Amino acid sequence: MMAAPGKRPVIAIDGPAGSGKSSVSRLLAQRLGLDYVDTGAMYRAIALAMRDDGVDTGDDEAVRRFCSGALIEYSATDGSVSVNRRPYSGKIRTEDAATLASVASQKAPVRELLAGYQRSLGVRGGVVMEGRDIGTVVFPDADIKFFIDASPEVRAGRREKELQAHGMDEPLVSRDMEERDRRDASRTNSPLKRAEDSIYIDTSSIGIDGVVEAMLQMVRERLHA
Ligand code: DC
Repeated sequence: MMAAPGKRPVIAIDGPAGSGKSSVSRLLAQRLGLDYVDTGAMYRAIALAMRDDGVDTGDDEAVRRFCSGALIEYSATDGSVSVNRRPYSGKIRTEDAATLASVASQKAPVRELLAGYQRSLGVRGGVVMEGRDIGTVVFPDADIKFFIDASPEVRAGRREKELQAHGMDEPLVSRDMEERDRRDASRTNSPLKRAEDSIYIDTSSIGIDGVVEAMLQMVRERLHA
């Protein structure tokens, strides 16, 4: 779909952990002067908030009750995220938070709450939104969709670097990462899958800058077509 004249585009970027999608999404948004929205941060924050409130993610009724009253807020200016006015930005980049998020994100009320909020952030256009289901569920009519991927070895290496960059020296357990990937791809609600009309990019052997340049060119061609 092409952006209506005057409307700023919605760019959907999906892919597995460690594919490089966060780095390319952030840079692409910067280069195009668009807001960057990291939806994984929201899943991590809500999963931690549920744990803090003693909500058992195996208890569907408790999850539904929590979600029906939850207020999630994300700032595209600094990427901060809060749940019920409690800040979570400083806590979300751990392996523990990733695993909790992978489990909580299977739950329909969690997905409905966050997908609704994500749509509200992109409804006026002007966003690069990254996650697992942006091109398939949140913005199926996005102006342009990318699916960013890389080999499992490359992805595990990048995740480890990411953790170190956030000051975590816990070892990355690649079995845990594989388990999360499997859960994300096989869940009933909005599994990670490639939208048919997305552009597939394998970043295993291309540097991030090269990927961003190629994406910029594709965005410009698509939006000016
Ligand atoms: O991208 P990430 O590693 O920060 O995501 C954390 C978890 O949240 C991941 O296991 C899958 C889930 N997630 C999701 O289900 N849908 C999204 N749009 C984004 C993340």
